[in-house]
Amino acid sequence: MTNILAFETSCDDTSVAVVTDRYKVLANIISSQLDHADFGGVVPEVASRLHIRNIVPLTQAALKKAGLTFGEINAIAVSVNPGLIGALLVGVSFAKSLAYGLSIPLIAVNHMLGHVYANKLEHPELEPPYLALIVSGGHTELVHFSAEDDFRIVGQTRDDAAGEAFDKTAKLIGLGYPGGPLLDRIARNGDPDFAEFPRGLKQKDNYDFSFSGFKTAVRNYLSDKNPQFIENHLADIAASVQKAIVESLVSKTINYARKNKLGTIIVAGGVSANSLLRKNLTRSAQKIGAEIYFPPLEYCMDNAAMIGAAAVNKFLRNEFAGLDLNAFSTKGIRRI
Ligand code: KG4
Ligand code: ZN
Repeated sequence: MTNILAFETSCDDTSVAVVTDRYKVLANIISSQLDHADFGGVVPEVASRLHIRNIVPLTQAALKKAGLTFGEINAIAVSVNPGLIGALLVGVSFAKSLAYGLSIPLIAVNHMLGHVYANKLEHPELEPPYLALIVSGGHTELVHFSAEDDFRIVGQTRDDAAGEAFDKTAKLIGLGYPGGPLLDRIARNGDPDFAEFPRGLKQKDNYDFSFSGFKTAVRNYLSDKNPQFIENHLADIAASVQKAIVESLVSKTINYARKNKLGTIIVAGGVSANSLLRKNLTRSAQKIGAEIYFPPLEYCMDNAAMIGAAAVNKFLRNEFAGLDLNAFSTKGIRRI
């Protein structure tokens, strides 16, 4: 049995996991940094410093949970991009020193690919070809996988990411941060047809996304409403906002899958936790006869178990990183 100790520090969650080469999660400890809430967004320097404080106790806790000692760990995996550079560097430096100290291989993982592999934790048998819709706080990408290491981005956002669209509109209607999960919860009691917001780039053969016009439309809509009206219709506005974001994600994904005869669709990233996206995409996928996979809820948001999962194939192929490994913040899914 191979045990991979994995680290995720790309944004505001410090996470350490132990995952086996059969995609079994022996431990997945996450410390979400609540210190950013007062600022309405993640403060990079604060995130880096908290990762430094968290990473040693979290590693000890993960090993304890897994019932393993350092001597029973066979490889170290770490997300190296994309993300906040200072935050990534904490994980990368710690991972490198452990790999060196324990004389075991080091595996570099792209964070977005990690999100895709979160699906393997429940479905280890899942193999390309498939279409991956990656929707997180910083990314919205439609990725056509022909094979595990052969994929291309066929659509992406031209401005805001889907999670960002949720967070920013949630902020406009007075919800806290991060707005996505809060908006999802409130929208459950609302009327999704209460207000009509525009969908960006509606042309059928265009697989790119755009949420900036939508965001402006929500701001304009709210600007001439009095606070009491907004308060009274919070759930309805939230439901209408959610419907607009989800509809554009669903229609682009389904159009691409149908046109390119892809029978499997997988969803990844924090927004894959969204209840309406799960419901509508499942229904639309069924209509075109495609199978649809979402990660288990606990692996939708940033976590180290998905980084360990993405490292399994690299471990089996001996694709190891040297100790000169560096973090970098360039956006997007990529082979590294
Ligand atoms: O993948 P993730 O944890 O971090 C990044 O790599 O960005 O995604 C975080 C994003 C945030 O924008 C958050 O608001 C959004 O995922 N999110 C949701 C839900 N849960 C998380 N958005 C809509 N509905 C949800 N239930
Ligand atoms: Zn993420």
